[in-house]
Amino acid sequence: MTFAIAGATGRLRPLIRVLLEPGHHVRALTRTGESPIASELRSLGAEIWRGDFDEPETLAAAATGADALFAAGTAHRVGPDGEMRHGVAAADAAKESGVPHFVYVSGSGAGADSRVPVFDAKRAVEAHIRSLELPYTILAPVYFMENLFNPWNLPSLTSRVLPSPVPIDLPIQQAAVADVVALAVAAIEQPKEFDRKRVAVASDELTAVDAAAAITAAIGIEMEPKRLDTSMLPPGLRALFAWLETDAPSVDLDQLHGNHPEVRWSSYADWSESQRARFRALCPHPHAEAVAH
Ligand SMILES: NC(=O)c1ccc[n+]([C@@H]2O[C@H](COP(=O)([O-])OP(=O)(O)OC[C@H]3O[C@@H](n4cnc5c(N)ncnc54)[C@H](OP(=O)(O)O)[C@@H]3O)[C@@H](O)[C@H]2O)c1
Repeated sequence: MTFAIAGATGRLRPLIRVLLEPGHHVRALTRTGESPIASELRSLGAEIWRGDFDEPETLAAAATGADALFAAGTAHRVGPDGEMRHGVAAADAAKESGVPHFVYVSGSGAGADSRVPVFDAKRAVEAHIRSLELPYTILAPVYFMENLFNPWNLPSLTSRVLPSPVPIDLPIQQAAVADVVALAVAAIEQPKEFDRKRVAVASDELTAVDAAAAITAAIGIEMEPKRLDTSMLPPGLRALFAWLETDAPSVDLDQLHGNHPEVRWSSYADWSESQRARFRALCPHPHAEAVAH
């Protein structure tokens, strides 16, 4: 099968490798084929196609003749207004191209009115997709485990502190990117089973206290959970964290995981182990510091 992947160089790019493994053809869309990530995708066997969400004709061209068009969002780069513009453009391009399946990555919070700008934007995109009467699947992940490596968390990690966007004893649901990718692959390969479905995606539910213990066990370096000081963060992010603390809807993990045994659902402990090298690079071992001094 042939798949066009828009947002191919973003955080969900492991999708490309997983689709290539069984022999699918992948058109990986990017605004520039010259980046190191584009080169890496090319070396894996992906075809690099020019794709810019601000030039929807590039998305339609790549989707033409493909079995599915997959679109990640762009909110992290262009904010909520950009997310809405790009999501609508991608859905319109799918419709115009006649591609038989459109897969859009929304967010779990976009399912209801949340007063969080990025979710409002994604909810509007979801409504637009439904209005187009094209075969679609909407994947709606909860908070990514990988957000721990976002720039605002790095100073804490280098001090062996696990920064939490919510009180450290409040359980929240999180999704491992690997699980989102695995579910996306299932949706892309089995369009009939996922037709016109919206699937909220969550891997585990735990407090920051439990998360710090899991990371400590995985990397052998004591991590202390602490609430993140969000006062310096942009308002959109603060709104997101406030929502996470008070209003985040709950995914039925048993039901989701039971419905999708094709995904090797990651516990936070599994994920921590998979990220051991990254943690060790960021969190200096206290004995190493003692030696240095
Ligand atoms: N982080 C979370 O906790 C969380 C939770 C739930 C859902 N999600 C969703 O999961 C998805 C993950 O996406 P992501 O983080 O991988 O996105 P991302 O890193 O921001 O990637 C977006 C991609 O879009 C491409 N792009 C093409 N045209 C663009 C344009 N005109 N402006 C900006 N970018 C353009 C960029 O590639 P080039 O630069 O190569 O063109 C980039 O790789 C998103 O839909 C996000 O909302 C995230």
